[in-house]
This record gives sequence, C-alpha cells and structure tokens, in this order.
Amino acid sequence: MKKIRLGVNIDHVATVRNARGEKYPSPLRAAILAEKCGADSITIHLREDRRHINDSDLNSINSRLKIPLNLEIAATKEMLKIALKHKPPFVCIVPEKRKEITTEGGLNLNFKKIFLKKIIYKLKKNKSRISLFIEPNQSDIKKAKLLNADCIEIHTGKFCTLVNENKNFNKELDKINKAVAFGNRIGLEVHAGHGLTYKSAKILSKTKGIKEFNIGHFLIGESIFVGLPSSIKQFKKIIK
Ligand code: PXP
Repeated sequence: MKKIRLGVNIDHVATVRNARGEKYPSPLRAAILAEKCGADSITIHLREDRRHINDSDLNSINSRLKIPLNLEIAATKEMLKIALKHKPPFVCIVPEKRKEITTEGGLNLNFKKIFLKKIIYKLKKNKSRISLFIEPNQSDIKKAKLLNADCIEIHTGKFCTLVNENKNFNKELDKINKAVAFGNRIGLEVHAGHGLTYKSAKILSKTKGIKEFNIGHFLIGESIFVGLPSSIKQFKKIIK
C-alpha cells in the first residue's frame, strides 16, 4: 500500500518571526529541517495581507527545497500572477477573508466559477498540481471535478474541534469518510487538513483513500516542547 504523505505547514514559524519584526525564526530553516526529517512536502500560505509568510519566504523556500512546495493561495489575480511566476509543484486554492484568524471553511465553488476555472487551467498548464480546499460534501466534490482540479483537500476543522472538545465526532467523521470515498470514486486525489492534532490525525488515518495530510499549527506548537524533528516523526508514525 502507498504511504500517506505528510505536508508540513510552516506558516506559524513566520507568525513568531513577525511578532517581533526580526529575521528569526527563519521559515526557510524550518522548511529545510522539515525536509531532512521526513516531510513529504512543505506548505506555505501566502496571504493577501502577508501576515505570516511573505514574498521573500516564498522565493527562498521555493528555490531551495528538494521536496515539493505546496503553495496555498486565494483565487485572486495577484496570487495567480505570483503562482505562475514561481511555478510551485503543488498549488492549493483556499478561501480567504481578511479578518479571519485562520481559513474558516472550504471554498465556495459557486462564487467566481469562471475565474476559478481559468486559474486552474493556467496553473495546470504551468505544470502545478491543483488542489481545492473544500468542505466534505458531494456537491462541492463534483464541482471540483468539473473545474478540472487534480485533487481536493477536505477541510477537517469541524471534526478536529469536536475531537479537541471531547464531543461526539461520529457524524462529522462519517461526512469525511463519505467525501473521501466519493472523491476517490470520481478520480480525484484526496487530501485532508486543518486543525489536526496527534489525536485527530490518528482517527483520520484510519480513513482509506486519504493520500496526504497537511498539518501546521499543532505540529509547530508541539515543536516548542519536543523539537521539530520529533513532532514530524510522531505525525509520520501516526499517519503511516
Ligand atoms: N490545509 C489548508 C488548506 C490550510 O489552509 C491550513 C491552514 O493554513 C492547513 C491545511 C493547516 O491547518 P493547521 O495549521 O490548523 O494544521
């Protein structure tokens, strides 16, 4: 059986750096260390407000990585231009609201449909693998297929919150399981991410058909206590 890939999101290394306006801790250093410790890809989200990762991080990380860079972007003209210029191997299109603390839900695939189709077409032609970050429901998965995405990333935020709060997560897990099965059935590669901890990743790793997990906030937070190599190794062990 093919192993599940671990994408390590290093946005919050940049959050800590930016909190003091210094040059450290360096997201590039974190990306190189994560690569050395077994990350299968590195994820960065270049937000419109550059609140964590900035253009210079994108430049340095993209030119130094040997493993694929997964660039998360909103569906805007500015981000399309940047992604076309840097040609990251993977691009994940995400919704973005300026005031949100983090990506609050999946993409609204009824909105800017024509523009989304154009972005996907242009980025695929430019040799980037395209993923759409969506909620676990059949209707959005069908739309992602019609838009010609290569992959979908299922937003696991609701499920993870229920796990964190020790609440009943079965309904949410069932939605994710059905979404993963449906996505695979119609020929999409299925990923999962947002809010994952050791506990929620362990539960979701039992879902057949998820090819990639993208994990950031908890993994980087855990590194404060155990170090980045150990938190990556622990996640690799859990999701294998
Ligand atoms: N996947 C996507 C598409 C995201 O936008 C994020 C958050 O930036 C993540 C995964 C990682 O989420 P977290 O930082 O909560 O692990």
